[in-house]
Amino acid sequence: MDTAEQISEDSILQIGKVIAVRGRLVEVKVHKTKNTSHLVYKGELLKNVSVGSYIKIVKGFTRIIGKVDGEFIGEDKLAVRQSYGSSRERISRVLNVSLLGFFRGSTFERGIKEMPLLDNECYLLHNYEFDQVHNFIRSGDEPIEIGTLSLEKGQTIRVGVNGLFASHIGIFGNTGSGKSYTLAKLYRELFEKYKKSRKFRKAASFLLIDFNGEYVDKKDDVIIEKKYKRIYKLSTRGKGRDRLPMALETIRDPEFWVVFLEATEKTQTPFLRRAVGNSYLSARIQDESELKNLIGRMVLSATTEGDRTLEKAVVTNFLSEVRNAIHDNVNLGALIEDFKAHLKFHNQQGTFYYQSGGLTTYSNQPAFKDNIVDPKVAALHINTNELSEIDQIRLQIVIQYYDDIIRGFSNKEHLAPLIKRMDKRLDDLKKVIEVSVPPAAVRRKNLTIVSLKEVNVHIRKILPLMLCKKLYNDHKTANDETNYLNIIIDEAHNILSENSDRESEQWKDYRLETFEEIIKEGRKFGVFLTIASQRPADISPTIISQLHNYFLHRLINNEDIRAVEKTISFLDRLSFEYLPILPTGSCIFAGLLANVPVVIDIGRIDTRFEPKNKTITLIDKWR
Ligand SMILES: Nc1ncnc2c1ncn2[C@@H]1O[C@H](COP(=O)(O)OP(=O)(O)OP(=O)(O)O)[C@@H](O)[C@H]1O
Ligand SMILES: [Mg+2]
Repeated sequence: MDTAEQISEDSILQIGKVIAVRGRLVEVKVHKTKNTSHLVYKGELLKNVSVGSYIKIVKGFTRIIGKVDGEFIGEDKLAVRQSYGSSRERISRVLNVSLLGFFRGSTFERGIKEMPLLDNECYLLHNYEFDQVHNFIRSGDEPIEIGTLSLEKGQTIRVGVNGLFASHIGIFGNTGSGKSYTLAKLYRELFEKYKKSRKFRKAASFLLIDFNGEYVDKKDDVIIEKKYKRIYKLSTRGKGRDRLPMALETIRDPEFWVVFLEATEKTQTPFLRRAVGNSYLSARIQDESELKNLIGRMVLSATTEGDRTLEKAVVTNFLSEVRNAIHDNVNLGALIEDFKAHLKFHNQQGTFYYQSGGLTTYSNQPAFKDNIVDPKVAALHINTNELSEIDQIRLQIVIQYYDDIIRGFSNKEHLAPLIKRMDKRLDDLKKVIEVSVPPAAVRRKNLTIVSLKEVNVHIRKILPLMLCKKLYNDHKTANDETNYLNIIIDEAHNILSENSDRESEQWKDYRLETFEEIIKEGRKFGVFLTIASQRPADISPTIISQLHNYFLHRLINNEDIRAVEKTISFLDRLSFEYLPILPTGSCIFAGLLANVPVVIDIGRIDTRFEPKNKTITLIDKWR
């Protein structure tokens, strides 16, 4: 560019001068000739400065970039004194500008290294400078296109795959504002780009937790064609639905049971560790005669050496629990009825006795073992081969529990609630998981979608946590950073809410700590989170504040806006003003990757691949 051209260009793009500098905020007085809405430059119509646009402040060789936050009318002191000027001359247009960053060579960098000086000249941005400011692709990264700038129609926004997907992502917005659509768009673009790559399928895995069944339907093409996905539509209601495969070692891991049964830390957790990890028990449970021996010994110890404070019905209670675990064994049912009718407790002597046909046998007599307990237990038929893995562990827990309380080793008050919970929850668990290893061919599909639409409240709360914790721990143990895991949770308030009245403090801590750890440490092990939620105010601030990139859709509720304002440091005031008025499908993109927060219209997804959440139209249904 020769000097003459440079000068003419400068004079056209030059729009004003700095008249005040207040920290990050700068006031710029606009030249009187530059108050039109558009400028003509080389035969092209350029949009003139307005709120939301960028300006460049030139200070020597430094180009500082700022964003216009607002504008107002100032009075021109000089023009006021010159009484002969027209009244139009007396007013001047002043811009409030907040500084964003500067150019180092031809690349834009966020942050401020030098402050502008009074009288520094201000310019509109050249197209190439504008593109640089909106370049969200670091060198060496590969781009995907996610949408267009809202305020600058036609300007596409591309982001770096590495910059975005090697980060924790937050998508927030009121219901119907387009969160799920945005989520689907991001991952659709990613999968479109890499779905054919063998390395991608091998080394990257994605788990999408879908609380509302928006990512599954009849065809199951949401986000990407069905053949690239594993889909589990779980249900605690009907039969014959999908079951999530769990490895045997997962089920045998006491930690699984600690989480599943919401065990308290002090007594229930150590108990579960003992019970599930008890190899003596687990070996005996798998063999019929050994199991029967065990049952006989338990009955004897309960009736002979048992703690005197035990409940009177300890034997029948124990047998009933065993029966629950081995599926209503008829034999055992008869034995329970028998004991209910004949096994009594003598209050004065403090002993059990068995009374039948006019014959009374006290539990401290040898005949009690020889003639009553042993033959009755020996007559049982228990098919141990029919026991599922889950049943086996249940049996272990039951036997350990009664063994503990009979020997006075554990306090019944502390453990009984745990056993009660187990009885209530296990049937549901069995409806949604199965013990098996996913076949190798299926494992190459690296996107797993788990729909929890039809599961009950408890499974909905606990299963995602167990899954995430397990996957995260596996990654942590493997400690192989080439192995990438992305956990995607739509409607994340379901498991990340800060307040929930229905659960214990301790459980809540456990739940949040799990995810806080993933947020804080996940990056080291190649584990990343994407969460979408309509109630950012409900989600733990520790989690929100440590996300790296944000897509903020329309937020109307003040509490939610405040939650975002308090925790997201990347946002400027102007962007906040936009939050309540963003149309569906538009959002503010801010965070580590975005040099400047920008309002973008998320690009369209072919209807075949979009999430299934159509806002219902009543009149169509009523006509
Ligand atoms: N970028 C977009 N382009 C076109 N349509 C969109 C876009 N974003 C959202 N929509 C449409 O708007 C509706 C609501 O979007 P979406 O389901 O993503 O909202 P949401 O924020 O996830 O709501 P909820 O909180 O209820 O889950 C859908 O019908 C969707 O198809
Ligand atoms: Mg949604």
